[in-house]
Amino acid sequence: MTTRQSHLSNSLTLPEPAQPGQPLAQVDTPSLVLDLDVFEANLAAMQHWADRHGVALRPHAKAHKCPEVARRQIALGARGICCQKVSEALPFLEAGIRDIHISNEVVGPAKLALLAQIAAQADVSVCVDNMDNLQALAAAMAQAGARITVLVEVDVGQGRCGVTDDHDVLALARAAEAAQGLRFGGLQAYHGTVQHIRDHAERAARSAQAAARAAGYASLLRAHGITCERITGSGTGSAEFDAPSGVYTELQPGSYAFMDGDYGANEWSGQQVFGNSLFLLSTVMSCPAPGRAVLDAGLKSTTVECGPPRLHGRPGLTYLAANDEHGIVSVEAQAEAPALGEVLALVVSHVDPTFNLHDTLVTYRDGVVAELWPIAARGLSR
Ligand SMILES: Cc1ncc(COP(=O)(O)O)c(C=O)c1O
Repeated sequence: MTTRQSHLSNSLTLPEPAQPGQPLAQVDTPSLVLDLDVFEANLAAMQHWADRHGVALRPHAKAHKCPEVARRQIALGARGICCQKVSEALPFLEAGIRDIHISNEVVGPAKLALLAQIAAQADVSVCVDNMDNLQALAAAMAQAGARITVLVEVDVGQGRCGVTDDHDVLALARAAEAAQGLRFGGLQAYHGTVQHIRDHAERAARSAQAAARAAGYASLLRAHGITCERITGSGTGSAEFDAPSGVYTELQPGSYAFMDGDYGANEWSGQQVFGNSLFLLSTVMSCPAPGRAVLDAGLKSTTVECGPPRLHGRPGLTYLAANDEHGIVSVEAQAEAPALGEVLALVVSHVDPTFNLHDTLVTYRDGVVAELWPIAARGLSR
C-alpha cells in the first residue's frame, strides 16, 4: 500500500490511484506519472556525463523525495544522495541508502540530535557556514558518539547561505579538523540562480565564474596545508559546464531525471539531452462554456511559482489559472476540444514542490502502468 490510507466510516480506505497493467488513461487523477523509458535515459545521460569527466554524481533527492528513484540512480553509479533537510533523509536511510549529504545548514537542537542519530548509522556530510553552529554540531555528535563530515559552504555568487571571507573559510575548516566528532571534508559551492539562466552562453560564463570562486577557496585551503577532498555543487542547468571544469569533484543535480517547464525554458546545447519523464495527469471535470474546460488539478496538485503547467501534446489548450482544486483551461476555436472525463497530461513547471504534494508516483512503460512508488519523504521539511 503506497497511498496514505484514509480510514473513513465503515472502514472505507482510499484505493491506490492505479493498478499495474492498467492503461494510463484509467489512472485516477490528479496523479503524478513517470515515463520509465525517458526517466532511465535521463539517469543514464547524467551518469555518463559525470563518468566521462571523472566526477562523482550525487543526485539531489529533494527533487523527488522517492527512495525508489534514488535506488536506481545509485545502481547506475551515483555515489549517494543529497537531501536538503534532516527529516527528508529518514526514508532514504530506511531504504538502505548509506551515503547522504545534507546540502544545507542544520540549526537547532532537535535537528542536530536527529542528524547525529543518522550520522551514527550512515556516512553523512553536512554544510556549515557559522562557528557557533559548528560547535553545536560537534556537541551533538559527541553526545551521540557519532562522527560527521563537515563541508564549509562558500557563497559563489547566489547570495544565499555560505561564507565569502577567506578568514571564515580557514577558521571553519580548522575548527572542523580539530573538533571531536567532526571531520573536514571540503567545500560546498552551489549557485542556484545560474541554473535557470536561459541563454546558454551566459549560463556557461556565469557557471565558470562560480567555479573559479570555488577553486580560489580550495587553493586557499591547500596553501594553508588543509586538504580539500570534495568540492560539491552544481545542478541540472550547470552540470554541462561544472563536470568538465576541473573544479568540482561532485555534482548535485536533481531535476534532470524528470525535467519541468522551468528547465524546459533554458537554452540547451545538445551536449546533454534530458526529456520530460514526469507528467501530472488530470481529468476534465467540467466543460461549462465554449472555449473553457476545467481540470481537477489545481494548487493542491501542482505549484505555479514558476508559471502554470503546460498541456502536453494538446496545441491550442492553455492552462490559465490554478484555484485550490481547479485548473482553468482556455481552448482556442480551432483546437480539438477536450471531452468531459478525458484525462490530459500536464508538464509541471517546477518538479520539486510538485512532488511534495503527492503520495505516490505511478510509473508506466508504453502507456501501461508498471509500479507504484511511494514518495516517502513528501512533507518532510524539518
Ligand atoms: C544545494 C542544492 N544543490 C543542488 C540543487 C540542484 O537541483 P536541480 O538540479 O533540481 O536544479 C539545488 C536546487 O535547488 C540545491 O539547492
